[in-house]
Amino acid sequence: MSITTDLSGKTFLVTGGAHRVGAMIAEAIAQAGGDLIIHYRRSEAEAHETKAKLEALGAKVRLLQADLEDEEACRSLIEEAFAIAPLKGLINNAAYFERGGWQETTMAQWHKHLQLNLTAPFVLMQRFSQLLPRDRNGTILNIVDLCAQKPRTSHIAYATSKAALESLTRIAARSLAPRIGVNALALGAILPPSDGGDTQSALRELPVARLASAEELQRAALFLLTNSSYITGEIVHLDGGKHLI
Ligand SMILES: NC(=O)c1ccc[n+]([C@@H]2O[C@H](COP(=O)([O-])OP(=O)(O)OC[C@H]3O[C@@H](n4cnc5c(N)ncnc54)[C@H](OP(=O)(O)O)[C@@H]3O)[C@@H](O)[C@H]2O)c1
Repeated sequence: MSITTDLSGKTFLVTGGAHRVGAMIAEAIAQAGGDLIIHYRRSEAEAHETKAKLEALGAKVRLLQADLEDEEACRSLIEEAFAIAPLKGLINNAAYFERGGWQETTMAQWHKHLQLNLTAPFVLMQRFSQLLPRDRNGTILNIVDLCAQKPRTSHIAYATSKAALESLTRIAARSLAPRIGVNALALGAILPPSDGGDTQSALRELPVARLASAEELQRAALFLLTNSSYITGEIVHLDGGKHLI
């Protein structure tokens, strides 16, 4: 029996993997010996920088560009990825995160959040499950947000999309068992928000009053990616205890 994490010979697709959380998860996979397909939309230069870092860790890395608001582009992304290497895993990380309360949320904002944060993961998971050879096991990790469980009135479209993705994670876990394990990592404050929001006031309320470290995120992601043969449909909170308050 081996209880060390060895992902050698296994390829993972990370959406929005050029920078920030996606790149941190990709780095963890590379450190465990895995290979990567990094998806990006606009961050081409950062995608190349991340590719170089991952290759320095010994990973084989390919970059694929796509706008995942387009459902056909989601399907093509999975098809192109499988044409590069038979995928072991899919990490649904790309997301919009925009402020918008009850009165100011526009329909355009509503639709784009649901399209990228919910529909795209569904289409990607569906195509992944169709192309994964029947005699192979796969693993899916959806990146959600602790606000899925806490009605967040400042980011209505975002919070709704993540709550639905949490539910879809459980539905996918039942639908795809036993061949594909599907879990989610519900993040609290990992990095300062990309919308320029105030991190310090959010941290003051936390039982563990600090941002997570990269290593804490990476260990949690690897744990779920490598234990989904029997842990499936689980939503793990990496949030310094914020879901408790
Ligand atoms: N940062 C945190 O502390 C935190 C907290 C809670 C939850 N999360 C979750 O963790 C994940 C990553 O967060 P982050 O802060 O690292 O993200 P981020 O900096 O906001 O980056 C968003 C990612 O989504 C991609 N993206 C945006 N629009 C796209 C589109 N139309 N098609 C395809 N890709 C698109 C971007 O790709 P390009 O840059 O290449 O365009 C980028 O990689 C998200 O799911 C987020 O909800 C993060």
